[in-house]
Amino acid sequence: MVESAILTGDGSPTRYHPDYQQHYHSLSGAHMEARLRYVVPGRVIETARNHGQVRILDIGFGLGTNLAWAIHEIQKQVPGAQLEIVSIEREILPVESLLTYFKALPETRLAVMLKGLVEAGQRVERNLSLQLVLGDAEKEIEAIDGPFDAVFLDPFSPACNPELWRSSFLAAVRKRTAHGGILTTYSCARSVRLALLQAGWQIGEGPRVGMKSSGTLASTGSVTPPLPPIAEKLNRKLQQLLECDQEGE
Ligand SMILES: C[S@@+](CC[C@H](N)C(=O)[O-])C[C@H]1O[C@@H](n2cnc3c(N)ncnc32)[C@H](O)[C@@H]1O
Repeated sequence: MVESAILTGDGSPTRYHPDYQQHYHSLSGAHMEARLRYVVPGRVIETARNHGQVRILDIGFGLGTNLAWAIHEIQKQVPGAQLEIVSIEREILPVESLLTYFKALPETRLAVMLKGLVEAGQRVERNLSLQLVLGDAEKEIEAIDGPFDAVFLDPFSPACNPELWRSSFLAAVRKRTAHGGILTTYSCARSVRLALLQAGWQIGEGPRVGMKSSGTLASTGSVTPPLPPIAEKLNRKLQQLLECDQEGE
């Protein structure tokens, strides 16, 4: 199969999924999104610096972009830190197709690493352990051990990929997240924020990235510095909805 990649605003490639009818990344820039939506707000560099190790749960391996940028940035900025990443993917693409995207990564060795990961399901190198879990994240999460310091939540949109935005799944993810761990996602939908609150997360405003409005950050407890607050009016509405929901139980 010839892979017809689509170039995004920063020159990096993404793919269009014909069934979901969505792109895998923001058209503003796939690589920019990986760095600014996932790696930076997930505070993985800080965790690696402060603790000498970082564990990441990568939900929706897709084209491996978020995973690869996390490895690249952590190893560049905190050489010697121990890095463990578990990725989950239900619909892994053939390796020949994935190579189109892997080859656009900032280092050739990342393409070799990700190819090895997809072929073997795991990859262990000095200070690095990668695992690729194939299957439906809703089920697979039960067999995954935490605790993770950061969670990259990157399914397709809530409207067409609802199972990974439900409070039951988000609660299962929270159970596997370290105290003070951070989840980052591109969605700022009210329903997603409510589901995170229902699952016991504290939430904050994610950064604006490219043309996309802010996403959402969530933590399992208080974090320093605190998460940027959600606008007051929206926060009040969410708290009301949460109370109604709890009264209805
Ligand atoms: C937006 S893409 C992820 C892009 C990816 N994070 C990257 O950096 O290239 C969403 C991915 O989630 C996967 N996905 C959707 N629903 C899933 C499920 N229930 N379990 C596991 N993976 C799922 C899709 O197959 C798709 O590869």
